[in-house]
Amino acid sequence: MKEKNKYGQYFTVDPIARFMVSIIRHEKAARVLEPSCGKGVFLTALKEAGFGNVEAYEIDRTLDNPYPNVRYESFVTSPMDEYDVVIGNPPYIRWKNLETELKEELAGSPLWNRYFNSLCDYLFIFILKGIEQLSVEGELIFICTEYWMNTTNSAALRDYMMDNGYISEIYHFKEAPLFEGVCASFIIFRFVKSQERRGTISLLKYRGKGKPDYLDLVGGTCFERVVIPQFEKGRRWLLATGDQQRLLDGFEESCRLEQGDQFATPRLYRIGDVCDIGNGMVSGLDKAFRVPDVDILTPKERESVIKVLKAKDLGQYYHKSESRYFFASCRMDEDEFEKECPVICESMAPYRSELDKRYDYGKDIPYWEFVFPRNQALFERREARIFVPCKERVSNKNHFRFVLADEDYFPLQDVTGILKKRSCRESIEYLVAYLNDRRVFEWLGFNGIVKGYIVEFSEAPIASIPYRKINWDNESEVRIHEVITESVRSYIETQDPMYVDIIEEQFNRLFS
Ligand SMILES: C[S@@+](CC[C@H](N)C(=O)[O-])C[C@H]1O[C@@H](n2cnc3c(N)ncnc32)[C@H](O)[C@@H]1O
Repeated sequence: MKEKNKYGQYFTVDPIARFMVSIIRHEKAARVLEPSCGKGVFLTALKEAGFGNVEAYEIDRTLDNPYPNVRYESFVTSPMDEYDVVIGNPPYIRWKNLETELKEELAGSPLWNRYFNSLCDYLFIFILKGIEQLSVEGELIFICTEYWMNTTNSAALRDYMMDNGYISEIYHFKEAPLFEGVCASFIIFRFVKSQERRGTISLLKYRGKGKPDYLDLVGGTCFERVVIPQFEKGRRWLLATGDQQRLLDGFEESCRLEQGDQFATPRLYRIGDVCDIGNGMVSGLDKAFRVPDVDILTPKERESVIKVLKAKDLGQYYHKSESRYFFASCRMDEDEFEKECPVICESMAPYRSELDKRYDYGKDIPYWEFVFPRNQALFERREARIFVPCKERVSNKNHFRFVLADEDYFPLQDVTGILKKRSCRESIEYLVAYLNDRRVFEWLGFNGIVKGYIVEFSEAPIASIPYRKINWDNESEVRIHEVITESVRSYIETQDPMYVDIIEEQFNRLFS
């Protein structure tokens, strides 16, 4: 591991540090702690702002830090004390990337052992130990990535925070480039240790795209401000307004199993209950497998041609383009391949050395075969399927691209495929319309795997989408299902947007 990453060293730029210091509410005489001060950017900002009672830790002695009073020891095992303000940019290192010495240190930390385990991240102990050492009404102001606000593995940290105080502000920077070479979504949050009334949270969403300017930060002109309810113990932290949360709750409520079901429990029904989901197949070098012209292939070669879709081919509901790929339908040795598939053999020749260099997952894969035909059995099922790009940028879109494809289409690696389970009674057309519905779009925006403006569609996040199944005893719902199914077919055939309006209207009725 590079020395640079050993301690999670990403240094804060001066405008951000100064801005964070500007949101401290305590008087200048407050006792302040910077638990992982790096080269001292926060120490400078604190000094300039007039805070004189500042202590700091840093594990790495080799850093060029001009402040003589920094304690070069680990904050994780530092003695407990009390501070009015804890401020900084703690290290974020995934457990699996932690140096053994740091893991061993955590193993000896009573706080770590009480709240966390090896599914948790290094960052967590800095937040938790920082809060442990706050005085009553003390404030902790950190900049860090946002992922821990709704992952399951960070539930203990969130619950601890809600047991001990509240969040007053969150500055949300999405994909803005705050740190050189780091592509992640960052937040600055201010936490107050208190057992008193908790109030709402000011959510300040960064409007810019580039690096923020200090004056814009302090003046608030680069933010859009909304007020959101205080987070609650036992729940994921959603950056959603009260109205948005009520809509999301209402949507989830409609996706619970209807009470009339025999043996029904009111559990949330999800897409994973009705669909099998898998990521697309990996050729290892797409351009080599693309078939230029099917007409010139031998009969044997034609048996091995499949229709494939990549993310770029997908529109909403239907695909805009497609390709044909060579996908060896049976095992052959090299002599057989050259004899039976002369045209393909020739078209692959220019790529031969690149094909040999493909990452082959430790298997000895012949150069004319896909390196990882994952989920092949699933995609060989003779039934229509739904495709969606594995990743979708939503900064300039208000919908996803779930596409209905015929049974003979295969997804490539940047596409995820969704097939109905046998037990699912709703039509595949209903399913694709459902997944394209705005309620799913909004729900995923808050509950899916979202990194900056990119929403990820791998198996787990798709499986977790709440699912509104049809109550087949209810005539009106059966009719809605019929109209949606017909409208999807008509839309794909005619591409007349009128059908999309009809579909939307039907879902509004279903959810009303
Ligand atoms: C993300 S960097 C931020 C540094 C500085 N606060 C800044 O904002 O520029 C995290 C810092 O934590 C330090 N660090 C890592 N583990 C530490 C530990 N156990 N105790 C104290 N500092 C630690 C790293 O060496 C690194 O300088």
